[in-house]
Formats: sequence, structure tokens, C-alpha cells
Amino acid sequence: MERLQKVMAQAGIASRRKSEALILEGKVKVNGIVVTELGTRVAPSDKIEVEGVEIVKEAHVYYLLYKPRGVISTANDDKGRKTVIDFFPHTEERIYPVGRLDYETSGIIILTNDGEFSYLMTHPKFGIKKKYVAKVKGVPEREDLRRLARGIELEDGWTAPAEVKMRSFDKKTRTAIVEITIHEGRNRQVRRMFDAIGCPVDRLKREEFAMLTTRGLNAGEARELTIHEVKQLRVLAETGKIG
Ligand code: URA
Repeated sequence: MERLQKVMAQAGIASRRKSEALILEGKVKVNGIVVTELGTRVAPSDKIEVEGVEIVKEAHVYYLLYKPRGVISTANDDKGRKTVIDFFPHTEERIYPVGRLDYETSGIIILTNDGEFSYLMTHPKFGIKKKYVAKVKGVPEREDLRRLARGIELEDGWTAPAEVKMRSFDKKTRTAIVEITIHEGRNRQVRRMFDAIGCPVDRLKREEFAMLTTRGLNAGEARELTIHEVKQLRVLAETGKIG
């Protein structure tokens, strides 16, 4: 027996948190009866319907996309902009992005139909690290970098400790390239962190997602994650280390 929201997430309906919201809103039926209790457990033989449609368990798929700039990382865009899903015209499964990258940010984004996996990769309590490289305006002082590393106060609270490293700087053009590794994923977090030290981000790329890199891919290209990589990512989220 599994929890209803977990079964829904695994079936690719939505993330576990969104599935919980659907249950609370009375949109989910088990064997024809509306269920609003989050702890409800279901058996594989139970018939589950979400908004009147029976859920079918799809095989799970996992992709890594090197997202170019100028692409939105939601499944649909009401302004008709290109989305990360548009890079998978032949994928029949209902995949969606794991977390978000801003329209102007490039780099690694994972897409899957496995809601449980998505939850493990994005909830800060699992500590999956994401490394960004930021080209910033201005040259941060050593103390600015320390503030970013220790945690900085943003309007939605303090950021968790981060790993921060100056890659290079140019005093003439007053620009710098800084690496920052975080495990949170608040909206526009890296950009807001650099704004807070007075060095706004000009270009931002997510270079690493846990042990994954964009190596071997050009912007706009994707590949499937290997079974081994998916397992490694799960173990990393569940234990904090690989192997
Ligand atoms: N932080 C940002 O500011 N933007 C992103 O796209 C990702 C992290």
C-alpha cells in the first residue's frame, strides 16, 4: 500500500506537493469515492481518478537538457515563448522540468515524469547541489564573497550557506566571473544574491546539477540520463553521498 499523493506523483500527474493540493481540493476519487484525506493509502488494484480521468502508470523517463537562454522552463507559456518541452517533440510521456531556470539562464535542467524523483531533486532538505557560473557587473570584494557563502538576507529570508569561488575578474571592464553552489531553489535566488552585494548578474549558467554536467552537449541538446545516474541521484538525495 502506498500513499495516494505518492502514487499520483509517480504516475506523472504532478509533483507530490501539487498532488496533495489536488486531493485537498476534492479532485481525486479512489474507487469512485472522493478522498480528501492526505494519509490515504491505496493498493495497486485501486482505481484512482483525478478530475474524472483515470490515472495510468507510465514508465518513468529522465532527460538532461542543456537549456539555451531565451527559453521558458514551464510546460506551457501563455505568451507563446519556446519552452523546455519543445525540445522533446517525440517524447510521448508527460514530462515536466525538475525545478526552474529563468528565461535568461542557460544550463542543466532535468525533465521527467517521475514526481517522486522531482521532489527528491528539488526540496532543499535533500541538499542536492547546483553549481552556477555568474558573469557579474562589478568586482566583488573578498568580504562580499564571504557574505554570499555565509548566507545573505533576502526579502524571503536568509539564504543557506553556499560555496563561492571567484573564477576571474577584469578591473578594466569591471566584471567578474564567480562560481556559486547552492542547494536551495528560490525564485531568481542567485540573481537576488548578487544584487544584494551590489554586483548584478549579466549572464548566468547552471553548470552542474549534483554530479551531472553539460559535458558533451551543446546548448539546445538533450540526452537521456542513464539508469545508473538516476540511481546515483536518488542515493545522493537520500543519504547525502554517492556510494
Ligand atoms: N538562480 C537564479 O537567479 N536564476 C536561475 O535561473 C537559477 C537560480
